[in-house]
Amino acid sequence: MTKSYSIALIPGDGTGPEVVAEGVKALRRAGERFGFELRFQNFDLGGERYMKTGELLPDSVLNELKEMNAIFLGAIGHPQVQPGILEKQILLRLRFELDLYINLRPVELYPGVATPLKDKGPEQIDFVVVRENTEGIYAGAGGVLRKGTKDEVAVQESINTRLGVERCLRYAFDYCRDRNKRKKLTLCGKTNVLTYAFDLWERVFHLVAQEYPDITTDYAHVDATCMWMVKNPEWFDVIVTDNMFGDIITDLGAMIQGGMGIAAGGNINPAGVSMFEPIGGSAPKYTGQGVINPLAAIAAAQMMLHHLGEKEAASAVLTAIKTVLVKDMTGVEAGRMGHSTSEVGDLVANYVGRMPS
Ligand code: IPM
Ligand code: MN
Repeated sequence: MTKSYSIALIPGDGTGPEVVAEGVKALRRAGERFGFELRFQNFDLGGERYMKTGELLPDSVLNELKEMNAIFLGAIGHPQVQPGILEKQILLRLRFELDLYINLRPVELYPGVATPLKDKGPEQIDFVVVRENTEGIYAGAGGVLRKGTKDEVAVQESINTRLGVERCLRYAFDYCRDRNKRKKLTLCGKTNVLTYAFDLWERVFHLVAQEYPDITTDYAHVDATCMWMVKNPEWFDVIVTDNMFGDIITDLGAMIQGGMGIAAGGNINPAGVSMFEPIGGSAPKYTGQGVINPLAAIAAAQMMLHHLGEKEAASAVLTAIKTVLVKDMTGVEAGRMGHSTSEVGDLVANYVGRMPS
């Protein structure tokens, strides 16, 4: 029997729909080529729906999403909606409600892509960040007193639970083992200042490490991590860190791998429904022009295939991305690709279709 997957599409705002369309092209072609079926269902979450109806993430939609095999998200963010509303009520709520406790961010410089780092190439820039995705400052603990007065007090606390920290660390150790490259896992923290939170992280890190004697462990403060990511990115294999630090260092990672046109990520619940997205956001100024780079979305679709267990198809899509970058594209930035958004998508899909097994 042909395998079949139900995939939720949340094209979302701005250029989200344009890049999701190209991801779907690659996915469909991969299904035809490698013998599986994809059934797509569209969900119109985002700024437009919110402005029309006031709805953000209705419970009925959440329940439908829970029944899918995976979610493919374009972008959430609208220039006419006050910052924080869509992010918190849609994106972060999905992470919490679906318990997407891992944010997985490969930082890989593909051949043919320019990095701002001098004298570094694909050999040196190839690591993965495992970011905790449901706790830390993002948990929303805190509050404000006497708002708007000169006596205002604002508190925003970082929540770190033993369960949350341990499951994230275990995922990172397993990921590092499966990745089977340098087998080195670096904990990124701030043990010299955040002496409660990162003391917990560090203790559990060393405890779990005992079960993984084949993995070399390392530690770097978050500020030093930023330094080494720029100066010696080749030192890293897998980095594991908390939610806030992970947010920051993965944008730095996106830049050294060639920018937002390339960077993809997964919001993962290893035992549930996971969500994959290009991390560049809705890029309102490029909306509707056919100039946005769809490769980040296609790379997110590729991660989704891998996650669903379609490893051959995933590796074909990755090869197709690398091929189009070397053979066809003149750049990765919006408007500088030498091709339109849909042309890049067609080229990738054609390479996938012609991939020898
Ligand atoms: C990301 C984004 C989100 C985050 C925003 C949009 C809430 O920056 O996925 O990294 O901070 O996690
Ligand atoms: Mn971010």
